[in-house]
Amino acid sequence: MSDPRDLSLAVIGVGHLADYTLTGLRRGGWRGALRLGPRGAAKAAELAARCDGTVFATNAAAAEGADLVLLATRPPQAVEAAQSLDLAEDQVLVSVVAGLPLAGLAPHAGGAALARAMPVTAAEVGASPSMVYAESPEAMAKIAGLFGLCGRAVPAAREADFEVGTALACVYGWFFALYAHLADEAQAAGLSPETARRMTLGMAEGAARVAAETGRKPDEITAQIASPGSFTRLGLEHLEDRGAFAPWEEAFGLLMEKLRGNT
Ligand SMILES: NC(=O)c1ccc[n+]([C@@H]2O[C@H](COP(=O)([O-])OP(=O)(O)OC[C@H]3O[C@@H](n4cnc5c(N)ncnc54)[C@H](OP(=O)(O)O)[C@@H]3O)[C@@H](O)[C@H]2O)c1
Repeated sequence: MSDPRDLSLAVIGVGHLADYTLTGLRRGGWRGALRLGPRGAAKAAELAARCDGTVFATNAAAAEGADLVLLATRPPQAVEAAQSLDLAEDQVLVSVVAGLPLAGLAPHAGGAALARAMPVTAAEVGASPSMVYAESPEAMAKIAGLFGLCGRAVPAAREADFEVGTALACVYGWFFALYAHLADEAQAAGLSPETARRMTLGMAEGAARVAAETGRKPDEITAQIASPGSFTRLGLEHLEDRGAFAPWEEAFGLLMEKLRGNT
């Protein structure tokens, strides 16, 4: 396979996801041609200027000849946007549309290989753990190579696993809400806003890194730190007594039900 940095990419649905993903890809060394669909003219023009791309007159013209075509509309517009394309068999249609199985796109893909990816906003700083799934090994190699440039591509063995990755991409969004509450508490207890923010985010980053880089299980790390009589244990027991983790598990389950089409 050619170097993923040279893959050409068309983007159909130039919005928030396109912005952070393209920013991260360029930052990560991607140098392939960027072909943007016309919808959202101001955003498309701004991204074309910032990320060295070209805006085309129609979705089909943008997608024509691109190695990968990123389908990045919101879910209700995805099928209509796919139908506006005229894809060839040597292209890969990569959907980032949450909750839309590939079977829903297959009739509109014109024989192109189908794939899914779920980059989160951390792509912008080269740190998205992006789950990727494709039906063919060739397509998987291409999208894993590309999304590896804005973080880490995590291949899903089955499409059902991809839905779990999508739910975790939503959990990523919840973490910010937790950090905001904790930073507010630290500020209310006397820290300056900047120190409260830096300390809260630093603890979150440190926790994630130590678990990832040592390979130790998070619950073992907690058990070691929250030793009997420690302040950490005092707070942890209060959280457990109040059932603080149950709503997180429930919210995760709620998303899984939706993503798997059971509700
Ligand atoms: N944002 C995230 O953090 C995130 C994370 C993971 C996955 N996703 C997925 O990414 C997708 C896009 O989300 P987003 O946040 O980037 O949404 P967004 O900011 O609303 O961008 C979607 C863009 O698609 C355009 N569009 C709609 N119909 C179109 C069509 N037929 N042809 C071409 N473009 C069309 C919209 O234009 P108009 O405004 O004119 O309709 C809009 O510019 C969603 O399906 C979501 O599930 C998003």
